[in-house]
Amino acid sequence: MEENLKKHLWWQEGVIYQIYPRSYQDSNDDGIGDLPGILRRLDYLKWLGVTAVWLSPIYPSPMADYGYDISDYQGIHPLFGTQADFDTLLDEVHKRGMKLILDLVPNHTSDQHPWFQESRSSRDNPKRDWYIWCDPKPDGSPPNNWLSVFGGPGWEWDEATGQYYYHAFLKEQPDLNWRNPDVRKAMFDVMRFWLNKGVDGFRVDVMWHMIKDDQLRDNPTNPDYQPHMATYEQLLPVYSTDQPEVHALVTEMRQVLDEYNERLMIGEIYLPIHQLVAYYGIDGKGAHLPFNFQLLQLPWEAPKIAAAVAQYEGVLPDGGWPNWVLGNHDQPRIISRVGREQARVAAMMLLTLRGTPTIYYGDEIGMRDVPIPFEEVQDPQGLNMPDKNLSRDPARTPMQWSAEPNAGFTTGRPWLRLAQNFNRENVEIQKIDRFSMLSLHKRLIELRQREPALTVGDYKPVYADTQLMAYIREAPGQARFLIVLNLSHRPGYFKLKDRSISGTIEIATYPELEGMVVSERINLGGDEGIIVRLDDSIPS
Ligand code: NOJ
Repeated sequence: MEENLKKHLWWQEGVIYQIYPRSYQDSNDDGIGDLPGILRRLDYLKWLGVTAVWLSPIYPSPMADYGYDISDYQGIHPLFGTQADFDTLLDEVHKRGMKLILDLVPNHTSDQHPWFQESRSSRDNPKRDWYIWCDPKPDGSPPNNWLSVFGGPGWEWDEATGQYYYHAFLKEQPDLNWRNPDVRKAMFDVMRFWLNKGVDGFRVDVMWHMIKDDQLRDNPTNPDYQPHMATYEQLLPVYSTDQPEVHALVTEMRQVLDEYNERLMIGEIYLPIHQLVAYYGIDGKGAHLPFNFQLLQLPWEAPKIAAAVAQYEGVLPDGGWPNWVLGNHDQPRIISRVGREQARVAAMMLLTLRGTPTIYYGDEIGMRDVPIPFEEVQDPQGLNMPDKNLSRDPARTPMQWSAEPNAGFTTGRPWLRLAQNFNRENVEIQKIDRFSMLSLHKRLIELRQREPALTVGDYKPVYADTQLMAYIREAPGQARFLIVLNLSHRPGYFKLKDRSISGTIEIATYPELEGMVVSERINLGGDEGIIVRLDDSIPS
């Protein structure tokens, strides 16, 4: 790299890949993915070119919310393996020059966690104040109107001690009281436990939920609520989330990471963009990457997405590093939202925008949401609101490795059924198919990692209309790239008003276009996206 190109950190230059461990690779025939299974697939991840692997929770848990209800923050669930398996995995990840990121779930524990068991044992237990306990109203009803994200009230009555406790999610997931300094200390020690082992960072679950209004005021009603929405959305969570005090807490968490070298803190935060960017913290002392979920939420329309990217770029604080996410274990898969063809354009967008991309396992082979028959639904969100099609199971189905039985995921009975087309859509087949989604991902990652303009360069929007969006990525003294994406199914015609552009198509969602020289006007078919190496580039 040229001298005038600033040095960046691994998580700024890298590509993150999320694994949902239950569904990645089983190694012991119990139908549930595990750590030795992931170990077997590390060479695949290296081949694909990912920099860091984020694992959804692997800790001991009663699995009421599939691991997001933790009963021991420093252990490994026997379903997933042992501490020794974990240590081997971490070691092997590092040997391959990759990084490992763990999920940290500090907002709530399992109701089976010893802390909660103690807390609920009596009103004067020293850990009583570790959770959010409150007297009922005079009529016996809950202290306020807060709702649970997973349906029903946010408060659960405890008969034995005559108080309610608050749970933003399931009643099996009581919220910790982060105003209590002992809770902070205990969780910071958990972080140090994993950081001392050499873990490279955390994805912090529901960061914006961590502190609630100290007066527990009622949330206002949501005037835009529609019956198809989750019941939680009946209220605006003004007092139960995103409280001003959360930022000081995030800074404290960051200080724990900063005791170590180059560790990463990602925050899971679903908030409007102005509130989101506050989580970078004052002087960048908050989360390194407050997850940016806009691509999951915006209508798939070029003008809206182009405007959102511009807005995001505009509001990022000084030194705030952008990031983009197309899918995760809580959301429908990209292909099920925008379709098979557009998912290729989406991949190109994810991997050419400025900022760290996060890929959800299986999206790289175009896995689709799998319909899960009602009797097989596992996800509590789906079970609690059965008429609203809110189950997250469809996006959590086993990884499709090959055309072997159960797609090579397990020789046992998979915990969730697989897509019926796994014999056609799998890693093994796609690896050797130049036109496959997997080949597209691999090549996009490879180009991104090779070209500084794409890894860390600036973002310059150049064009957007009702179908197309286009931008240039450039870095001082480096090759420059023009990216043109057709977000519609119809042909689209790209031309810049004020300048002419010429170059060669380096990667196209349809590889037939590659190598084509383009200038002036670029004619794109429906669902096509291209990356053009511009002629005015200084060769790399
Ligand atoms: C966010 C996680 O991503 C989701 O899967 C989980 O159910 C909730 N937080 C509660 O921990």
